[in-house]
Amino acid sequence: MNRIPRGLRASIFALALSAVGAIDSTSLDAQETVAANLGQDRAVLITGASSGIGLKTAEVLAANGFFVYAGARKQADLDMLNAIDNVEAVRLDVNVQEDIDAAVQQVTAGGRGLYALINNAGVVLLAPLVEVTEEDLAFQMNVNVYGPYRVTKAFAPLLIESEGRVATTGSISGIVTWGLGGPYTMSKHAVEAYTDVLAIEMAGFGVDVAVVEPGNYKSDIMASMVERMRERGYSTEGSMAKERMDALLASPADRGQYKEPDEVADAYLDFLTSDSPKRRYMVVPNEQEANATIRAHIRRLVQLNEDQPYEFTRDELMAMIDEAMAAEND
Ligand SMILES: NC(=O)c1ccc[n+]([C@@H]2O[C@H](COP(=O)([O-])OP(=O)(O)OC[C@H]3O[C@@H](n4cnc5c(N)ncnc54)[C@H](OP(=O)(O)O)[C@@H]3O)[C@@H](O)[C@H]2O)c1
Repeated sequence: MNRIPRGLRASIFALALSAVGAIDSTSLDAQETVAANLGQDRAVLITGASSGIGLKTAEVLAANGFFVYAGARKQADLDMLNAIDNVEAVRLDVNVQEDIDAAVQQVTAGGRGLYALINNAGVVLLAPLVEVTEEDLAFQMNVNVYGPYRVTKAFAPLLIESEGRVATTGSISGIVTWGLGGPYTMSKHAVEAYTDVLAIEMAGFGVDVAVVEPGNYKSDIMASMVERMRERGYSTEGSMAKERMDALLASPADRGQYKEPDEVADAYLDFLTSDSPKRRYMVVPNEQEANATIRAHIRRLVQLNEDQPYEFTRDELMAMIDEAMAAEND
């Protein structure tokens, strides 16, 4: 199956043709118009579109012919989003049911229906699991897990009506685990299960479901966390992980060392335009992150299998992997 995002495919095709002189600039414009209409004016709602992955995805989808309802919480962000062509801002805190209900009304009144929902809003919280307060853990789960649950539930009738698509921004932290990342990795592991169950339940209604699992990309997620911690007077004093927490908190909060999340936005474009969308889109900026994620999954498989009455042999496991690969590539 060809996994190059369709928008990219159309552009590559146009570039290849122009490189060999097969088309003139007029037909190149025509090709670009084809790429720009991939979304066919279909409506998509993206939560957490004020920055990072959500903003980039809003820009890419809007540029490819989708009509984007872009969720944000602050007036300045709503104004910024409203200034983008093909984008209409929606005031939406995923923890506030009144906001969600109003968003359903706004989208319904828009008269375009809703083809897709992208549950992207998310926060990160770092703390040792034996120290994190119940309040902080609830905050983490509330945004990253209950948020997608609430918003998807509210928009399900519109998505079923359009036989549309739902995706959630998970993370490679839905597969890998790392010390001090307990609250965040727990939330992103929950998103994995949420996606698989939702996919089973929506299959009969023609709604496709996916999780996009980014590695490390530039965004405001760490800066927001540091700001929240400062506001609450958080201190690492007395923590069992003081040194590591201090080191983590001292790393560049602007995540300027990472790439812009264009690849993540392209994965969303692929999910929304592919005839055979994938369930999982792992999108990482380098091989090292791919390697660590796949190995973490394999390690879990091996641990699950070993030393139990129905242990499978290596050959049997390999046959299972071959079978799964064949099924996915059907
Ligand atoms: N960047 C990465 O490397 C990376 C990797 C893996 C997964 N992710 C995931 O990607 C998603 C987007 O994060 P990001 O990295 O792009 O960070 P970001 O720039 O901080 O964006 C997070 C977005 O979520 C919004 N948000 C936070 N709490 C919200 C709430 N209660 N209701 C509605 N919106 C809320 C923020 O809005 P405000 O501006 O109003 O706070 C912002 O628009 C998250 O789910 C994150 O876990 C990111």
